[in-house]
Amino acid sequence: MVPTLLITGATGFLGQYTVAAARKRWRVAGTFHRTRREDAERLLAGVDSGRIDLTDFRDVREMLDAVRPKAVIHTAALADPNYCEQHPDESLRVNVQATLNLAGLCSDREIPFVFTSTDLVFDGSRAPYAEDAPLSPLNLYGEHKALAEQAVLDRYAEAVICRMPLLFGFSANGRVPFFQRMVGEFQSGRPMTLFADELRTPVSGAVAAAGLLLVAGSGLDESVNPKEIERVRGLLHLGGRESISRYEMGLQMLDLLGLPPELAQPISFRDVPAVAARAANVSLDSSRAYALGFDPPPIRNQIERILRRTAEEKTATDEHR
Ligand SMILES: NC(=O)c1ccc[n+]([C@@H]2O[C@H](COP(=O)([O-])OP(=O)(O)OC[C@H]3O[C@@H](n4cnc5c(N)ncnc54)[C@H](OP(=O)(O)O)[C@@H]3O)[C@@H](O)[C@H]2O)c1
Repeated sequence: MVPTLLITGATGFLGQYTVAAARKRWRVAGTFHRTRREDAERLLAGVDSGRIDLTDFRDVREMLDAVRPKAVIHTAALADPNYCEQHPDESLRVNVQATLNLAGLCSDREIPFVFTSTDLVFDGSRAPYAEDAPLSPLNLYGEHKALAEQAVLDRYAEAVICRMPLLFGFSANGRVPFFQRMVGEFQSGRPMTLFADELRTPVSGAVAAAGLLLVAGSGLDESVNPKEIERVRGLLHLGGRESISRYEMGLQMLDLLGLPPELAQPISFRDVPAVAARAANVSLDSSRAYALGFDPPPIRNQIERILRRTAEEKTATDEHR
């Protein structure tokens, strides 16, 4: 029988990519929270999905008993640092308490649990960061993710904590991520200001999802083996191979689109007031993941693949009209 993988936050940016990739090998169950039911059904067509507030312990326990997953990938979160800074109690409940509850319930059931954390647990002054680098978050989001990491490891030593880098790609949930906005602006011939001094090790949503599924037991062959997670356990960085700014990504995109480089306008994050403090360079050293089989292609190839797919989808839609 095909095992069930539960993906929390299936309507989110990373959740959508993870669901799409997981469906090839798993039976997927996905959760959403505030997304309207009809939108969730459109986004998660063919997936066993349900609305849940993950901060409600009893609901989560009942859901796990009903779905009986063989592994859980927890991508649900309040992932906007500015929102977290302004809503500290909600951030604590969702990013820390709900994560800890889920880890505990997975531990009781001995099911692999993969928690998605962030490169923002670091302050950006000593990159690149390996898994054992001391934590030094600059904002509340990073602080709560750091608290959640420790709480998960204390509660369930076999859990895997994947620190995700900046993610890029398209989203169909109505919230337009920076990369998608960049494509729209550039293709309309409008310039866009982009941070030139904030460095990260980005990967596309698709590459990130492949990494999470590798960890959750999909392996590199056709089989699904949730026991594979036992060779991972603990902290794992799923960053890309290049340390790069959004501005440099913009230049690469313009080159691929055959548009003038002037459309990307460099700015400093230090010149833009922000609610949550920003880190200069939170590039991750992900050699541990690379040794396990995680293999992100060059950024340029990842950007090119997204642009090609988007163009193909647009052509298919236009032909349908
Ligand atoms: N995006 C990035 O660049 C990035 C970088 C580093 C780390 N990460 C980490 O990667 C993970 C995914 O991030 P993302 O960008 O995909 O986030 P996202 O797009 O904001 O999606 C968050 C998901 O969590 C769900 N959710 C929020 N509150 C919930 C609650 N109380 N109960 C149940 N579900 C709830 C949302 O459901 P509804 O939409 O239905 O309300 C949504 O599906 C997070 O752990 C984040 O910290 C992301």
